[in-house]
Amino acid sequence: MSSQGGRKTIIAGNWKMNKTPAEATSLAKAIVEGVASQFKGEALPEIVLCPTFVCLSEVLNQVKGSPCKVGAQNMDYRDSGAFTGEIAPPMLTAMAVQYVLIGHSERRQFFGETNESVNLKVKAALAHGLVPVMCVGELLEQREQGLTDSVVKEQVVKGLAGIAATDAAKVVVAYEPVWAIGTGKTCETPEANRVCGLIRAEIDSLYSGTNIGAGVSILYGGSVKASTIDEQMEQEHIDGALVGGASLKAEDFLPLIKGGAKRLKSQLVKTS
Ligand code: 13P
Repeated sequence: MSSQGGRKTIIAGNWKMNKTPAEATSLAKAIVEGVASQFKGEALPEIVLCPTFVCLSEVLNQVKGSPCKVGAQNMDYRDSGAFTGEIAPPMLTAMAVQYVLIGHSERRQFFGETNESVNLKVKAALAHGLVPVMCVGELLEQREQGLTDSVVKEQVVKGLAGIAATDAAKVVVAYEPVWAIGTGKTCETPEANRVCGLIRAEIDSLYSGTNIGAGVSILYGGSVKASTIDEQMEQEHIDGALVGGASLKAEDFLPLIKGGAKRLKSQLVKTS
C-alpha cells in the first residue's frame, strides 16, 4: 500500500499568476532535475506542477519522462462555445494535463466562483478524466465568528452535490484557510489536521456506508514551507500540501517533496 487508507500523498505547486513561459521552463527543469538527483530509488509523493495556461505546454514538455505531473489552475465546465477567455476541459486533456485546481479561494474571492460553479467544474473534471483538486477554506472573519466548520462543511457538501460515490473517491480536496494564504501565517498544524479530519468525516457521512473518506487525499495549503512541512506530513489527515509561494523556486519546493517522501516512508514502514 502506497499510503494511508490507499490515499495518495501529493505535493502540488500552484504557481498562480507567476512565470513567463521561459521562466516556467527553467523552474520545471530545475524541479525535474532536483527530483532525479535527490530522490534516487526513493518512493516519491505525487508531484503536481500547476503553471498558468500559457505555460502548460512548456511545463508538460519538461516533465516528460519524469515522475512529475501537471495541473491547470482553473477551467470552464463547458466543453466549447462562445465563452471568450475561457479554457475547456477537453483542451486540457488533449494536452495531457492530469489535474485541475477548482475553486481556489482567489477564484472565489476575485472571480465570482461559488459553491455551485465549483460543483459544475468538479463534475466536468471528473467527466473528462481530470483529477479535480477542490479547494475549500474559511475567511478570517468566518474563523473569528466560529464559523470555520460550518463554512468548510457547506463547501464540501455543495461542491460534491450530485456526484456518485465512485467519482467522489477520485476527488482531491485542499483545505486552504484563506487567512493563511500568502500571509506567512500557517494554520497551527493540529488545527489544520482537525479540519482535514472534519472534511474526511463529512465525505463519509455524505456517502454513508462507503468509507470513501478514508481513501480521499486531503491536502493542506497556506504558507507551507520547509520549516512547517515535516510536522504537517506527520498528521493523520493531511495527505499532502498545496503550495503557493514556496513552489516558485526549486530550492524551496524540493524540501517539500522531501517532506511528502518522508510521510510515504513512515506509512510504508507502518504497513509493512
Ligand atoms: P501560499 O503557500 O503562498 O500561502 O499559497 C497557498 C495557496 O494558495 C496554494 O494554492
